[in-house]
Amino acid sequence: MSQSSAETDSQTLANLSHEDRRFDPPEELAAHANVTAETYEEAKADRLAFWAEQAERISWDEPFTEVLDWSNPPFAKWYVGGTLNAAYNCVDRHVEAGHGDRVAFHWVGEPEDDTRDITYAELQDEVCKAANALAELGVGQGDRVAIYMPMIPETAIAMLATVRLGALHTVVFGGFSSDALATRVLDCETKVIITSDGGYRRGSPAALKPAVDEAVAKVEGERPGLVEHVLVVRRTGQDVEWNDDLDLWWHDVVDEASPEHTPEMFDAENPLFVMYTSGSTGKPKGIVHTTGGYLVGTSYTHWAVFDLKPDTDVYWTAADIGWITGHSYIVYGPLANGATSVMYEGTPDTPHKGRWWEIIETYGVTILYCAPTAIRTFMKWGAEIPEKFDLSSLRILGSVGEPINPEAYVWYRETIGSSRCPVMDTWWQTETGMHMISPLPGVTSGKPGSAMTAIPGVSAEVVTDEGEIVPNGSGGYLVLTEPWPSMLRTLLGDDERFKDTYWSKYAEQGWYFAGDGAKKDEDGDIWLLGRVDDVMNVSGHRLSTTEIESALVSHPKVAEAAVVGAADETTGQAVCAFVILRESALEGGEEAPDDLIEELRNHVRKEIGAIAKPRQIMIVPELPKTRSGKIMRRLLKDVAENREVGDVTTLADSTVMDLISEGVKGEK
Ligand code: WTA
Repeated sequence: MSQSSAETDSQTLANLSHEDRRFDPPEELAAHANVTAETYEEAKADRLAFWAEQAERISWDEPFTEVLDWSNPPFAKWYVGGTLNAAYNCVDRHVEAGHGDRVAFHWVGEPEDDTRDITYAELQDEVCKAANALAELGVGQGDRVAIYMPMIPETAIAMLATVRLGALHTVVFGGFSSDALATRVLDCETKVIITSDGGYRRGSPAALKPAVDEAVAKVEGERPGLVEHVLVVRRTGQDVEWNDDLDLWWHDVVDEASPEHTPEMFDAENPLFVMYTSGSTGKPKGIVHTTGGYLVGTSYTHWAVFDLKPDTDVYWTAADIGWITGHSYIVYGPLANGATSVMYEGTPDTPHKGRWWEIIETYGVTILYCAPTAIRTFMKWGAEIPEKFDLSSLRILGSVGEPINPEAYVWYRETIGSSRCPVMDTWWQTETGMHMISPLPGVTSGKPGSAMTAIPGVSAEVVTDEGEIVPNGSGGYLVLTEPWPSMLRTLLGDDERFKDTYWSKYAEQGWYFAGDGAKKDEDGDIWLLGRVDDVMNVSGHRLSTTEIESALVSHPKVAEAAVVGAADETTGQAVCAFVILRESALEGGEEAPDDLIEELRNHVRKEIGAIAKPRQIMIVPELPKTRSGKIMRRLLKDVAENREVGDVTTLADSTVMDLISEGVKGEK
């Protein structure tokens, strides 16, 4: 483990070792829970038989003949020979089973009273119409469609229509910049982009279409003719530029299409979607998920971890569909299970800071799933806000995206969950597709801050650098020791990077390297300790240090940049950048003016998106480097976190840190 993570870990471990609170499952819940303790034993006794049984949750056209083909690791094939249609599984079959009147989504727009309930029967019509429209535009099996949308029902409809045709979607988070969109469109070679005029954000319409126009112009420069159509949903009614060669209104082509569409069946390994995520180099990785295993994994975990009762639960993942959490637990898992979900377009403080709690009260939400950063924000706003609302419908709470600190866990449990609702701290990744480590609500005595144990059918371990399994009470790297159904199959167009990134560190053992530090406590329960690579976690969103550094260096006034994730009370980590300016930028004065710093922050926002905008930029004369030229980020992290700077003996020039610390102090 690198020194920086080892240092942070020992601090974290010291804090955690004081934590001895336990919360048993509520008796009533345990008595009727979907999953009991025996399931762990069954799954352990025969893992593949367990996953074969879980596959019965899904409707197959041709049954599979083999659960797992692992003859060419790390390239897995699950449910070999099986055929199915993902959209049929998420929509049509519930209508056929007589649940057409059940609400699939209670959609809540940000402007108050802008709501829409969509039943499974209505969803089927919409998905079929959109599938017919896309087919008409030439989309078929293996084609790629980019989806760049706000949180509106059409986003889920567009995804389902795409996969219904055997095509792949890549959903690009609406907060990303036009450059980020263009990069993904080029890498994924998408022939259609689905977007909207805009969406509502913090009380006003925020435009999306201009970013698409910019991205298309950029893509045209590099790959003329790649993008054939841009389909635009009218959401806000704001003015948009119109390109007659490409642009089509969704309502013109989809509303006119037939609501009848017979789904074709595809192989279990037909690719379902590509989701880009940050890696430790600047280039985002296109994570490829396929159909059968992904649907089995997400529907099983959604049912098991949230104890889902589709007839009575109202489920809400308060995340954006543009992230894996939205894919697995707003769209595919809940819909495959025939669940009723809430989908909310806006921010938690619009038009008032009680908006989430108001939504829970209005719809009788029973299961809430969100990120620790949101919980910490609500803590800061104060308990008196949620206390004004009736939250008694809630029975289970979930947390995802980053370690949840014990204080936030207990506050969530007590203030939101009336000390009644168990908290499911779910560890997983874009790559894993589904929950991997989590308590189960009817089984586990939860410990605040621990994700506890691998779910049934999943095998996780904590190991040393050399690949020894650590004893209880020790820390190391988290690995997954057996393949699982919804595992990523590869990185789009880059099998080598897929092998290098995840499978080379423990090639001998055949383990998947997750990139997270973890500890097993004295009971063998797992505590996640954060990333061990150059990936930051800001408000539960993965950002790469290198990607932000590249963005900064692309500014003409910047010579060099180093970025670190510094601890932040609300967002978990915050982006802190250290920048060396070019000589030319310094002309006319020694000190960097505030507006230059603002200019650089906005430059990152433009290049990547608002979530990557540095909290802080420090102009420095030098960066600390080893003799081999590697930037020592842990020293910069010390500065960013206002700590005494650690061991500098491996620096090429040990006086550099004095210069940096002095400079930074002078600035404050
Ligand atoms: C972190 C989000 C601690 C972890 C689903 C992982 C967590 C990365 C947890 C994946 C958790 C996610 N406790 N850390 N419960 N959940 N992480 O791909 O570092 O956006 O590797 O997937 O988030 O982020 P991603």
